[in-house]
Amino acid sequence: APAPVTVTVTGAAGQIGYALLFRIASGAMLGPDVPVKLNLLEVPQAAKAAEGTVLELMDCAFPLVAGLEVFDDPTKAFDGANIALLVGARPRGPGMERADLLSANGGIFSVQGRALNEGAASDVKVAVVGNPANTNALIAASHARDIPAQRFTAMTRLDHDRAVAQLAAKTGAPVSSISKLAIWGNHSASQYPDITHATVGGTPATSLVEQSWISEEFIPRVAQRGAEIIAVRGGSSAASAANAAVEHMRLWVQGTPAGDWTSMAVPSDGSYGVQEGLVSSFPVTTSGGDYAIVPGLNISDFSRTRIDASVAELLSERDAVTELGLL
Ligand code: NAI
Repeated sequence: APAPVTVTVTGAAGQIGYALLFRIASGAMLGPDVPVKLNLLEVPQAAKAAEGTVLELMDCAFPLVAGLEVFDDPTKAFDGANIALLVGARPRGPGMERADLLSANGGIFSVQGRALNEGAASDVKVAVVGNPANTNALIAASHARDIPAQRFTAMTRLDHDRAVAQLAAKTGAPVSSISKLAIWGNHSASQYPDITHATVGGTPATSLVEQSWISEEFIPRVAQRGAEIIAVRGGSSAASAANAAVEHMRLWVQGTPAGDWTSMAVPSDGSYGVQEGLVSSFPVTTSGGDYAIVPGLNISDFSRTRIDASVAELLSERDAVTELGLL
């Protein structure tokens, strides 16, 4: 059997953590042959609840689980980590201003960036799920001097999957027939779900739907799906977010299928006019554990306006955390 892969999950006692850990332990993320050592990081107040999840993980008797440990010390939790899923974050509390939120999370993600720098494995891959995910990834990367910034990504795969599901429902086609959909920008209401390059069973998606559906129904529905889930379910998206985290990392490690791509927020290399260094969502292909922003796509005027608006929000988040001294 291959050597176990060490996977550190933060926010392990939270809603997403509860849905995520069992999927990883079952082999959904790294495949049916790869043993996993799970390191669970929580704040001290929630460490006991995480221990409870460990009891249940034991009771699943998953053959791939090579280790299970709970930590409240980031340095220990990230020691030897090959994969880090940064799910734990500070939610926006009543009366909290945006600056308070950025600063509370800046405290968390700067500490975790330094801890990753100290002890993570040389091949570490990081996906930030906790919001504001893009900017949290930027902060963590800036505090991990010795790790290439490109290893720090933020999750927009849930937005991608939501968009695929909406296009499938609209066209009556199976989700498996849809390729080359892309999420651009920030994981926030300003994101741009883009179907201009997408195909449905090989047919251009834009020839199957009206422009008014794209701008008035599709984009707002995908961008506000999180709020819709809260309104209907009475709780935030947890299982679908966990599934997207599994897919984000599965595709990064195992590669995207030929003729398709995924969406990931990654440090910009200046592609598509997105300022270098900003962690922004792009269509990416992956292979051999590396990813590449899909080059050379035609960007319509409509797309340009949408991408620019979301990138402007990322710039303002970066300015705010710079002002707070968090970068
Ligand atoms: P939750 O509140 O149920 O769980 C968060 C957990 O993180 C709590 O157990 C808390 O104790 C822990 N935590 C807080 N600070 C920590 C730290 N410094 N170290 C380790 N653990 C820490 O929240 P839920 O529903 O699991 O969501 C987690 C995050 O994911 C939220 O920020 C949410 O906004 C975000 N999210 C992102 C999505 C995306 O598409 N990128 C989709 C859905 C949620």
